[in-house]
Amino acid sequence: MKNIVILTGSGISAESGISTFRGGDGLWDGHRIEDVATPEAFERDPDLVQSFYNTRRAQLATVKPNPAHAALVALENAWQGEFLLVTQNVDDLHERAGSKKLIHMHGELKKARCLETGQVYDWQGALTQDTVCACCQREGMLRPHIVWFGEMPLAMEHIYHALRKADIFLSIGTSGLVYPAAGFVQEVRRNNRNCRTVEINLEPTAGRSYFAESVYGKAGEVLPGFVQQLLND
Ligand code: OAD
Repeated sequence: MKNIVILTGSGISAESGISTFRGGDGLWDGHRIEDVATPEAFERDPDLVQSFYNTRRAQLATVKPNPAHAALVALENAWQGEFLLVTQNVDDLHERAGSKKLIHMHGELKKARCLETGQVYDWQGALTQDTVCACCQREGMLRPHIVWFGEMPLAMEHIYHALRKADIFLSIGTSGLVYPAAGFVQEVRRNNRNCRTVEINLEPTAGRSYFAESVYGKAGEVLPGFVQQLLND
């Protein structure tokens, strides 16, 4: 029985209608990253940051999982060894498709966190600086449960534990530019020279030389066939 770890990035959600981070103009939905995705930005202009994530949270109601998300659910359901899906995405498309063994290493749009206690809440609607936090009973204490630049990604111990035992590592729809996720392929190779490493992307990425195999195309088009092959191997 083989152990598999899968890393996904915003490319897997592109065909669902969610824009990737580095496509096109270098802006993220019209904003510079440092204006909306850093702790300093939140201190400087919390209303702007809240409203940016409120828009993205609301957008989730207008999109749905695509065949690439579904293929990973089929893989998880049929897989005999250990399985872990690590996503950098903050959307909820993997879980809506049915993925269970899933870690959101960069947080989740549909969660909010208390600045005082660290308590995490499920969150569906808009979050504002007037929202009263249920645990500390104060306004202005809830922030999006998103990992901003300069902050530590979530569940890293769990992820590295799985990477060290991986026999197969797939990296899907991620540019491989943001660490630590970009370094996962090197981590698996360091621990297991025979680990099968596959990059699945529209085009070769900056980290392509670390992968022994590659499949280029839209994830929604190439992943279902790739998963079927993997299950037949
Ligand atoms: P990027 O925008 O950097 O990269 C998206 C990747 O998806 C690119 O390599 C595209 O070629 C590929 N792609 C686009 N459409 C695709 C499709 N239909 N099928 C397959 N691949 C496709 O996004 P990420 O790599 O996810 O972090 O970015 C990583 C992190 O940087 C994000 O999680 C976010 C961002 O800053 C935080 O917010 C902490």
